Amino acid sequence: MLGLSYDSWCITQERYEPEKTQFYETLFTLANGYIGVRGNLVWETRYGHPVTYFAGVFDRTLEVKTSLANAPDWTNLKLTADNETISFEKGKLLEYKRTLDMRQGILYERIRWKSPKRKITRVETVRLVHLEEKHEGLVYGRLMPENYSGNIIMEGGINGYVFSSTGFTNQLKNKHFELVKREEAGHSIYLEMKTHGSNIIVGEATNISLNTTYRQDVKYDRDYISNVLTFHAEMGKEYEFCKYATFYTSRDTKDVRKSALDKLEEIVVRGYREIESTHVLAWWKKWENVSIEIEGNELAQKSLRFNLFHLIQCANPEDEKVSIGAKGLHGEGYWGHAFWDTEIYMLPFFIYTDPTTAKALLMYRYNTLDGARKNAKLSGFGGAQFAWQSADEGTEVCPKELGSPFGETITIHIPEEEHHVVADVTYGVEYYYKATQDREFLLHYGLEILVETARFWASRAHFDKKIKRYVIERVIGPDEIHEHCNNEAYTNFMAKWNLKTAADYAKKFKASDVVKKLKVTSNEVERWHEIADKILILYDEKSGIYEQFEGYFNLKELQLEPSRKGFPKIPSEWRDWGKLQRTRVIKQPDVVLLHYLLGDRFSTDEKKRNFDFYEPYTAYRSSLGPSVSSIVASKIGYPDIAYQHFLKSARIDLDDSHGNTASGFHAASAGGTWQAVVNGFAGMRIQGGHLYFDPHLPKEWQKLKFGIRWQGKGIIVEITHKTLTAWTKDGEEVEIGVRGSMKKITGEKITTPLCQSQ
Ligand code: BGC
Repeated sequence: MLGLSYDSWCITQERYEPEKTQFYETLFTLANGYIGVRGNLVWETRYGHPVTYFAGVFDRTLEVKTSLANAPDWTNLKLTADNETISFEKGKLLEYKRTLDMRQGILYERIRWKSPKRKITRVETVRLVHLEEKHEGLVYGRLMPENYSGNIIMEGGINGYVFSSTGFTNQLKNKHFELVKREEAGHSIYLEMKTHGSNIIVGEATNISLNTTYRQDVKYDRDYISNVLTFHAEMGKEYEFCKYATFYTSRDTKDVRKSALDKLEEIVVRGYREIESTHVLAWWKKWENVSIEIEGNELAQKSLRFNLFHLIQCANPEDEKVSIGAKGLHGEGYWGHAFWDTEIYMLPFFIYTDPTTAKALLMYRYNTLDGARKNAKLSGFGGAQFAWQSADEGTEVCPKELGSPFGETITIHIPEEEHHVVADVTYGVEYYYKATQDREFLLHYGLEILVETARFWASRAHFDKKIKRYVIERVIGPDEIHEHCNNEAYTNFMAKWNLKTAADYAKKFKASDVVKKLKVTSNEVERWHEIADKILILYDEKSGIYEQFEGYFNLKELQLEPSRKGFPKIPSEWRDWGKLQRTRVIKQPDVVLLHYLLGDRFSTDEKKRNFDFYEPYTAYRSSLGPSVSSIVASKIGYPDIAYQHFLKSARIDLDDSHGNTASGFHAASAGGTWQAVVNGFAGMRIQGGHLYFDPHLPKEWQKLKFGIRWQGKGIIVEITHKTLTAWTKDGEEVEIGVRGSMKKITGEKITTPLCQSQ
C-alpha cells in the first residue's frame, strides 16, 4: 500500500455522515473513460447506491428512452467475525476516514469498528480502476482483529441485483440487466449479464486472496455470486487481502467470458503491487501533461485539481463511439447523455492537453452523424441536426416532460427548439482543427460535419421578405428559461458562424473527396454565404446591447436576490416557470457566452456593456454559467468578479452548491473551470492562426504555471503579475503573442514583462 500524497492532492472525509453517502460516492468515483465506479463504501450500508457504468452501455427502457445502465458491482466486501458482520448501522464506528488521492488515482478507506459484542476490527482498503489497463480494477486491504482471536468470514462478490433510478426523480427504479450466467472458474468467479433492451453483454470476474490459510466456498444468490473465505485470525495480527477484478462488454470483445477470465488470470499473476505501481505511474505521467500549478492559493489549487482529475477520468481516447455524459461516469443524472457540454465546455481542455482524446470525442459526433441526419429529417430540415441529448446512436433522447426546478411537471420543448447544439458541435470541430492542424481529421471527418450542419442551418433559417433578412424562429438559447424565441442572439450568431465557416472550408477544400461525395456545389456555398451575411442580429444601436431575442427588452426587469452561497436567488413569488418566463431573468449566460466564443468579433467595450446589462439578470441555475462569466469578466477588467465566478465554478461539486452532486459530477463546469484559468486568467486565445496570451492573474495568486499542446508542440507557460515566461518542451520554435506583440519561443525560457493590457 503506497503512502498517500500531500494534502493538496487529497479529498478527505473524516467522519461518516450517512446522509452524505451519495454525495461522497460522486466525489470518490474512480473511472478510466471505459468504466466508472462510484465511490460507494466497501461495506454495504442502507444509504449507499453502488453504481458501475460502462461508457456506451446504454439500455432502452419504458420510462426513459435510453439510459446508461447500472452494471454489476464488483467492489463489495462483507466481513463477519463470530456471527457479527461489519455494519455501520450496528455497533460503533471508532474511526472512519476516506481519502481520494488524486495524484495516484486511488481511493483509501480506513475504519475501526466495534461490534455489539465489543470486538474491534481495523480494516484499511485501497481501491483502484486502472487508468491505462481499462479492464482492470482491484480492492486491496489489510485487516486486524484488535482485541480478539477467532474465525473471520470474508465474502467478496459480484452483485448484479442493482437498480438505476431514472435521473433526477429517483422515483422510478430500473433494473437494466438480466442474468446470463454465473460460474466458478478455479478460485475465481464470473458473472455475466445482458441489458434488457439493447442486448449488450457485460461480464465481470473477480478473484479474492488472503495471505494466510483459508477455506474457500462459493455462494449464490439472486443475480449474485461470491467467494467466501473462512480463516482463523489471531488477535493483533495483520492480514492482507486482495480482490482482483476484470470487466469486458460485448461492445469491445466477441468472447466476454474468455476475455474477463484470461485477463483475471494474468493480473492475479502480476499481483497487486505491479498493478498499483503501473496505475500510479500512469497518473503521474498524466498529471505531467495536464497539471496546473497555482502558487499562493491552496483552495484554488485543490479545487482545480479535483475538476481536472474527474474530467480526465471521464474520457477514453481509444473509444470513438462514446462522448462524455453531462454527469460523467459518476452518476445517473441526465441518464448518461451527452450535451453541447462536451464541445463547448470540456473539449478545449482535451484539445490543449490530450488531442487524441479530443479527436475521439469529435469522432463520436462523426460516428453518430447518421442519427443526426435522421433527427433533421424528422423535424423537416436538411443536413444533420445533432441531438440535444445524445446517447449511442445520436438520435434525440431528451425526454418530453420533466419536473421543473420548482416542482411542477413541464413539457420540454428543448429537443424541438434548442438547436444551437448543432453549431456548438461544429465549433468544437473547427477549434480542434485550428489548435492541432490535424488535416487528416478535417478532410475525412470534420469537413463532413461542417457541410451537414451548414445544410441544417440553411434549411432552418428562412427569408423574411418584409425585412429582407434571414430569420430563425422558435428556438431556445443557452438561457433555457425562455422558449419559442425568435432570432435568439446566440443561436443566430452561431448559425451565421457555422454557415460562413462551412462555406470557407468547403471552398478551400473543394477538390476533397468529402466535398465531392456530398455533392456540394458552388451555388450551395454561395447560398450559405448569403444567409450568413443576411441573418438577423438584434442589436440596439443606442445602448450597444444585443437583444437576447425578439421582445426580450419588453420583459419585466426582475431583481434577483443575493444568497448565502453566492448564487443569486429568484424571489419566491416568481418561482413559477410560466411567471419567470415573463421576466428578464436568464438561467445562464447567453449573449455573454457568445462574446466569449466568438470573442474577436466584439470589442471590449461592447463585451463590457453587455456583461453589465445581462449579469444582474443571470440566475446561474445551471452549473455551466459561472465559468463563462469568469472568463468574460477577466477580459473586460473585472478581476474580482472573475475570481468569484471562478471559485463558484471550481467548487460546484466540492461544496454541492447546486444540491445535486449526488447524481453525478458536473463535467461541463469542470471543463469551464479549466478555461476560466487558461482562457480567462492567462488570457489565452487563438487569433489569425496564432496563439495569444493576455494574462490577468487574480490578486490572490502569485504564480500560475501550465502546459498546453499547440499544433503538435508542447508549450509551458509561467505567469506572474509582472511577467510571462514561456518555452517549448522539446526545444522547437513557436511564435506566440504576448499582450499583442509576437515572440519567438524555443526550449530556452523567454520572459516578457507584462505592461498594461491593450
Ligand atoms: C443546462 C444545459 C446543460 C444541461 C446539461 C442544463 O441545466 O441548462 O445548458 O447542457 O444542464 O449539463
